[in-house]
Amino acid sequence: MLDLLEQPEAPPAGSPRDHDALFYDILAGGAKTRLLEAFLDLQVPEILGSRGEMTARDFCRQLAVHPHRGWKFLHLLATVGLLEQAAGDHGEDDAVFRLSPAAKYHFGEDGRQGYYYRDLVNFWRNVAVLPIVEVLRGMPLPNAVRWPPPGLNEAEHLETWMRVTAEGAVATVLNSGALAEGSRLLDVGGGDGTIGCALAQHYPGLKVTVFNLPASAYLARRTISEKGCGDRVQVHEGDFLQDEFPAGYDRVLFSRVLCDWTPAVCRMLFEKSRRALGPGGRLVINEALVDGNLDYTVSWEFRYLFYDTFGRCLFKPLHVYRELLNDAGFEIVNYTPMPPAVFYSVIEAVPK
Ligand SMILES: C[S@@+](CC[C@H](N)C(=O)[O-])C[C@H]1O[C@@H](n2cnc3c(N)ncnc32)[C@H](O)[C@@H]1O
Repeated sequence: MLDLLEQPEAPPAGSPRDHDALFYDILAGGAKTRLLEAFLDLQVPEILGSRGEMTARDFCRQLAVHPHRGWKFLHLLATVGLLEQAAGDHGEDDAVFRLSPAAKYHFGEDGRQGYYYRDLVNFWRNVAVLPIVEVLRGMPLPNAVRWPPPGLNEAEHLETWMRVTAEGAVATVLNSGALAEGSRLLDVGGGDGTIGCALAQHYPGLKVTVFNLPASAYLARRTISEKGCGDRVQVHEGDFLQDEFPAGYDRVLFSRVLCDWTPAVCRMLFEKSRRALGPGGRLVINEALVDGNLDYTVSWEFRYLFYDTFGRCLFKPLHVYRELLNDAGFEIVNYTPMPPAVFYSVIEAVPK
């Protein structure tokens, strides 16, 4: 007898259904984003976070939403995984909706958290309203995001994003073991020092230099002082596009830095790293690779279409890093793929 619970198989590669699935995947991307925007604008996380669960009828009444459209909206939110739906398979008004585990992960049990994810949606909106064809024809973009951050406010915004997402980045570096034998670490583009302090706290024998632009260097000094790490974490102010790195390190780390720069800049940074590393030194890259992170890459690089100071090929696959490292006189000696928790993989390379 036919098992009705059996999952349909994925379409064979190159079949008409495979091609159509790609097309619908692209089209559904737009639908999903609009659903997410309305989910936040209607404060669905906050309302369901405080109420626990609601019927479609109560939800539409409380939010003054059209009952028919509101029902379909809630059902779609459940279909894309932002809500859980109980009952209502036939469209009944008393279908019950609650936040899904994924929505609670992103916006908290109470639905009031998620600064970083909310900000990502705001940044998406800023570019989504622009006429893309006109932008592609060269329409000037006076308020475009500039890179690197041009002033203290912009640096503070960036480093806040980095700080609130630092835990995962620290975890992948620690998990790789790449710093376990190190004693002097140069953390290039080391944010506001959060990661440098966390690494120094984990490895009592490690001294860290955070290399950063003046505004972020100032923020790093503040963090280091607040965390009481000043005995082993220091700041070196510099612009890696212009300045040579200080020398005499046995580890040089790029954590979430290289996906902001073109392959040519990355190669130049690797060459500087080679000169900064003493004998037996090791270059450590903690980065989101294109491999396995396609949606992540597309959502970031779409925005970069609207920001001219961001270059080409910023997110790169592993094989491009291998080529760039090779060109700069390094060979990869260890690779730790991203764990289930975060997007970052760790590449370790030594001078050839
Ligand atoms: C995406 S953040 C990553 C911060 C930190 N490494 C982390 O993982 O949280 C990129 C960092 O590179 C720094 N940066 C950008 N351009 C730079 C430049 N030309 N010279 C030095 N640092 C730069 C930024 O100030 C910022 O701290």
